[in-house]
Amino acid sequence: MNNNNIVWHPNKVTEADRQKVLGQKGLVVWFTGLSGSGKSTIAVEVEKMLIDAGHAAYLLDGDNIRHGINSDLGFSDEERNENIRRIGEIAALFADAGMIALVSFISPFRKMREFARGRVREGGFIEVYVSTDFETCAQRDPKGLYKKNIKNFTGKDSLYEEPLRAELVLDTKDSTPIACAKQVYDMVAQFICCS
Ligand code: ADX
Repeated sequence: MNNNNIVWHPNKVTEADRQKVLGQKGLVVWFTGLSGSGKSTIAVEVEKMLIDAGHAAYLLDGDNIRHGINSDLGFSDEERNENIRRIGEIAALFADAGMIALVSFISPFRKMREFARGRVREGGFIEVYVSTDFETCAQRDPKGLYKKNIKNFTGKDSLYEEPLRAELVLDTKDSTPIACAKQVYDMVAQFICCS
């Protein structure tokens, strides 16, 4: 599409102004991992911990977002890329507004996770890899999807590319969701601290 006739319009409010109002820096916390790995369970706990501590946080969850703005998208590689492109842009807007955006999507492709990272300022993005292996996820099967014969299912006939430089890797076999969430919370607290 030709965007030649669209001109960026500057704001009067700066990032520092927003930080002063909210008492925190904006941040994107990006959870990635297989379906059933525990991403959303942990992210729900992190959101609760942050809100209870008086921080402005909001969880953007793949299954929920696919009911609304991304309800037109399926699970081909192209559609997953578009899913992550949109949510990467939306998360960046949340962070720019001074919020902590918790993003919980499989986001199987490195290229698109890097795209999302690139949409926010340096130091404004934490990638959290929920590294639960395929066999464990298939055994847990919380939504009964692994036992169905779903086409293009992540880890079966659709690729998952493990993160190479995640800020945090969580092993849900050895820790409870609350313990994992506390690890994320502690890291977030460092990143959002106003200087
Ligand atoms: S992503 O790959 O595009 O990032 P997203 O996180 O939005 O995926 O959605 C994943 C959720 O959709 C899963 O947790 C599962 O409940 C459901 N789902 C339905 N079909 C598939 C599929 N083919 N592969 C993986 N998850 C699927």
